Amino acid sequence: MPTDFLATAIESALEAGDFLRRHFGTDIKIEEKFSYDIKIELDKLAQEKITQSILRDYPGHQIIGEEGISGAKESEVCWIVDPLDGTVNFTYGIPHFCISIAVQQSGKTVAGVVYDPIREELFTVSDPGLPKLNGRVIKSSPRSFLSDAVGVIGFSRTKETISKATELFFNLVPKVRKIRFTGSAALDLAYVACGRLDFYIEQQIQIWDIAAGSLLVEKAGGKIITKTIVKGKTFGLKATNGVLNLDFVTFD
Ligand code: IPD
Ligand code: CA
Ligand code: CA
Repeated sequence: MPTDFLATAIESALEAGDFLRRHFGTDIKIEEKFSYDIKIELDKLAQEKITQSILRDYPGHQIIGEEGISGAKESEVCWIVDPLDGTVNFTYGIPHFCISIAVQQSGKTVAGVVYDPIREELFTVSDPGLPKLNGRVIKSSPRSFLSDAVGVIGFSRTKETISKATELFFNLVPKVRKIRFTGSAALDLAYVACGRLDFYIEQQIQIWDIAAGSLLVEKAGGKIITKTIVKGKTFGLKATNGVLNLDFVTFD
């Protein structure tokens, strides 16, 4: 029952959001550094909180999170969790990050939540149901001309994806009103769903970044196109408001 799943997803996201908000702007413990990314202790701690909260309500379910897998492997219901989307922003004190939680039943996303604890914006969706921002129904933008469009390109975290995204940036920037770089894929999708952004494109993105946000976009009237890189896990993704023609953007 998606409605019950949604209630648990909301409760878990709000709890983790409070936790992250309390730690925002404090001394952050960096656990690992990579060329284009970092991992912090709070990534794991936030996932632990969310895991406990989900398993409290649904002890027989599985959880696939960016920070690890737990619960029952054989369950047909799987919770897809990014406990902190926008870790680099968070660590550098940039107040743009979120928690993303989706529920998949037999591989189909049936509920999703994206929560921005700084702005206290809670994006929710269930299938069947309407996508909402803080309880109000949202829809994607009606802008159909590329010259009016504002969108995001994500750079992912490898030399190859950065170079492809740079090429795409040079291709798109003269054609659109503005390109933005935000650092949170799940919020990018939520912003496409509520009409703030007209598109969002990333060359290589993980299921926990996009599961909740993709359902928000689709139910809000937008369109999601993915190219599978690793089945069920890694994708190239193009999200639009549903009317903008971005067919010329490919993943090859
Ligand atoms: C990252 C953010 C970023 C996107 C990266 C993701 P993280 O997630 O969503 O916007 O460009 O591809 O990995 O690491 O902050 O959870
Ligand atoms: Ca993420
Ligand atoms: Ca993350």
